[in-house]
Amino acid sequence: MEKMLTGIRSTGGPHLGNILGVIIPSVFRANKSTKHSSFIFIADLHSMVQIDNLDNLKTIRNSTYQIAAAWLAFGLNIENCLFYRQSDVSYVTELAWYFNCFYPYRRLTLAHAFKKKEMIDKKKISTGLFTYPILMAADILLYNAKIIPVGKDQLQHIEIARCIANYFNKKVDKKLFVRPNALLQKNKFVLGTDGKKMSKSQKNCIDIFSSDEVLKKQIMSIRTDSKSLEEKKNPETDYIMYLYSLIAPLEKIEIMKKKYIKGGYGYYEAKIALYEYIIHKFSSEREKFFSFMKKKSLLDHILSLGAKKAKKIAYERLNCIRKHLKFNSII
Ligand code: ADP
Ligand code: TRP
Repeated sequence: MEKMLTGIRSTGGPHLGNILGVIIPSVFRANKSTKHSSFIFIADLHSMVQIDNLDNLKTIRNSTYQIAAAWLAFGLNIENCLFYRQSDVSYVTELAWYFNCFYPYRRLTLAHAFKKKEMIDKKKISTGLFTYPILMAADILLYNAKIIPVGKDQLQHIEIARCIANYFNKKVDKKLFVRPNALLQKNKFVLGTDGKKMSKSQKNCIDIFSSDEVLKKQIMSIRTDSKSLEEKKNPETDYIMYLYSLIAPLEKIEIMKKKYIKGGYGYYEAKIALYEYIIHKFSSEREKFFSFMKKKSLLDHILSLGAKKAKKIAYERLNCIRKHLKFNSII
């Protein structure tokens, strides 16, 4: 069976984009897959590129629990898959080093995360941010994963992983690495409260696992035009309607659309309807999430069991790769 692998960074709580784009489809696949063919991890090493001060590592650690609790709240069956913290399987950093030594520097300068930051502030770019795609390639190629559920922003990274796999396979004249494919959702991106890609760094998130008050505040901040309650509204261009359409059933969407078109229905009421629907739809996941967040030692235990299993596989694979590089086996 083809292996599936995905990771979410621990740079904040999981938002609706992460959940609809990656968590729900991955849980669905992982729970159907055969034992040990799904790898789901928390990319805490990748999260380090986001901080500029070692004091902030605490935030990464705390958010690791939030991401883990979210996966479990959405029903991830940990018997079936390998569920771990990236930093607990450090073999991946060794593989990343090998890739670093062969991947052309010039090509990495074209990676969009680096280019974007370069335009804003060159001084703030760490070597970690620059080589970010290499570590991601190692995450994937270490386990020979083929199916990678991600959002559209990660496509270039998957392409780099494919390129590295090709390069090595040609050099050793063997299919040492499987070429991975991205698995994208139809909606490509979930948009945030400002109509741009929902992202932890943009403060435009709908965080379904935040408190009722915070969630309500986030929903109230959804950008709208300035039409009055009485005026007719366009359901096709409004972000409240857009978010509601992502999660509500068709009949409910149609009812809200009609209210928009008819007029006499304000954005405030629409926001309240969205808020209430989110609370209703995700009530069981929210309950499980809050319960897991009270049991951090259980989360630590689950993640370390997953890491132990992943480490075994990574150990075998890395030894095989080392052999091709004329190095000794891991001592
Ligand atoms: P963020 O971009 O908010 O920091 P991550 O980088 O940790 O989130 O993303 C984890 C996964 O979720 C990635 O595969 C990413 O492409 C996906 N993702 C992030 N934001 C969205 C979004 N708005 N819609 C769909 N998928 C998303
Ligand atoms: N780079 C991804 C992100 O920012 C997280 C990630 C790290 C990942 N390694 C991965 C995703 C491997 C898929 C496969 O969201």
